[in-house]
Amino acid sequence: MTETARIGVIDSGVGGLTFVREILALCPGADIIYFGDSANCPYGNQTRERILELTFKALSFLQQSHIHVGVIACNTISTLIDTLQSNSDIPLFSVVSPAAEAVACSGVKRVGILGTEFTIAVGTYQKLIRAINPDIELLCQGSLHLAALVDQGAPEQDVEREIVSRFGPLLEHNPPPESVILGCTHYPIVKDFFVRRYPHIEFLDPAVELAKVLTRWLEQQGLETKGQGSLKIYTSGALDVYQRILEKLKIPAPQVLEHKIP
Ligand code: DGL
Repeated sequence: MTETARIGVIDSGVGGLTFVREILALCPGADIIYFGDSANCPYGNQTRERILELTFKALSFLQQSHIHVGVIACNTISTLIDTLQSNSDIPLFSVVSPAAEAVACSGVKRVGILGTEFTIAVGTYQKLIRAINPDIELLCQGSLHLAALVDQGAPEQDVEREIVSRFGPLLEHNPPPESVILGCTHYPIVKDFFVRRYPHIEFLDPAVELAKVLTRWLEQQGLETKGQGSLKIYTSGALDVYQRILEKLKIPAPQVLEHKIP
């Protein structure tokens, strides 16, 4: 009998639910175990060492569920994928590489990258895109606050104010970027704000490309992804924001939604 795919998903908070939405659409039969470290969010304002320490703890917790693969849904954590992978005995997938590759090959000439200050400063998107397509023009901007505002379920006007004040200059650049990577998992949750205010720009969610790449890999491994799977969500933070974001993203109610400190 074919074994059901067991996917561990890590994010600094609710943001990785944007990946869960994408993977459920492609692999409804997988068992997904999610950990969102909302108590320590935002990761984007922490040191590399602290992010690694928190991620290793979260990975060990998910490995208790005998996952076949670990998905680093968080862009900030994904910038450290090489160090994480060399210390892990299960395969890990980064959200950054598939999106960078897709954009570099898409034929667009001017691309915006929005993310945490950490993600933008490390420059993984920039390096990966330029390695494939050195002619592409990149406009990059980080935010210290947007992920935390979304993770705390802040009022809409606070979210909108941060988007416009931090990202407005890039999004209003003349000539404007043709595509903009929402390079933080929390940003696609509020994609409607971006689209409403900047309708001429195409906003990309990196989780879409990651879900495609992971689905192909699971199939190559001969793991079952069709039929009826399960979703277990654990967080170090408050459960009500998760409930609200699950509804907003139209993700069916999980079998488990529990508080957990790994
Ligand atoms: N959601 C995370 C990302 O994709 C980071 C948010 C945070 O700063 O914790 O980068």
